[in-house]
Amino acid sequence: MLIAIPDVLDPAAVTRLRALIDAAEWSDGNATSGPQSALAKRNRQLPEDSAAAREAGSLVLDALGNSPLFVAAALPLRVFPPLFNRYEGGDAFGLHVDNAIRIRRGSDFRIRSDLSATLFLSDADSYDGGELVIDGQFGEQRVKLPAGHMVLYPASSLHRVTPVTRGVRVASFFWIQSMVRDEGARRILFELDQSVQTLGHERGQADAEVIHLTGVYHNLLRRLAEM
Ligand code: NI
Repeated sequence: MLIAIPDVLDPAAVTRLRALIDAAEWSDGNATSGPQSALAKRNRQLPEDSAAAREAGSLVLDALGNSPLFVAAALPLRVFPPLFNRYEGGDAFGLHVDNAIRIRRGSDFRIRSDLSATLFLSDADSYDGGELVIDGQFGEQRVKLPAGHMVLYPASSLHRVTPVTRGVRVASFFWIQSMVRDEGARRILFELDQSVQTLGHERGQADAEVIHLTGVYHNLLRRLAEM
C-alpha cells in the first residue's frame, strides 16, 4: 500500500529546513548504499553525522510525531534518523530495493525496514523528472508530491528515481520499523482506523458503535503489535 501524507511540514517549516540543509556540505550519495545500489545511484547526500543532518532530521521526526495520519498508517516502533538527498543535472537512482536491516553507523541503533518514506522538500514545478517510481502489486506508481508532503510505501518494493533534467530535487528519506510487521495486517488496521475516525466525526465520539469499534481496533492492535 502506498500512502500519501500531506502537509507533514507546512511551507514555513520547509523553508526553515531547506535553509538549514542547503547551506551544508553535501557528499556523494553512495556513502549509504550497498554495492548493488551503488551501481544504480547518482545523487548527493548530507553526511548522516553532520550537524545539519541531525538538526534537520530532528525537525522531521518532530513533524512525524505530530501527524496522526503517519502514526495510523505506519504504527511506528522505530524510525531511522532521516537522511537528505539532492538530485540535479541528470542525477537519478535506478531500480533497486532498500536494505532489510539498517544500522546507524557508530551506534547500536538498528531497525528492520518495513516501510520506506520520502518527504519532498522541493516544489514539484521547480524541477523536471525526479519522480519516485514504485513497483506495486497493481503495476507501477509514479509519485511526485508538493514540498512538505510525504509518501510511505512498503520497503520490500522495487523502486527508482527518474533523472532530474531541470532544477533540483531535494528530499528527506528514511525507514520505519512498524509495530505490525505484516503489511496486510497493517493495511486492515489502517482502514479500520480511518473508518472509525470518519464515523466518530459523523456520530460523535460518545456514540455507542463508535466506542465499540474503537475497542475492536485496539483489541486487534493488541493482538498484532510486537514491541
Ligand atoms: Ni531506495
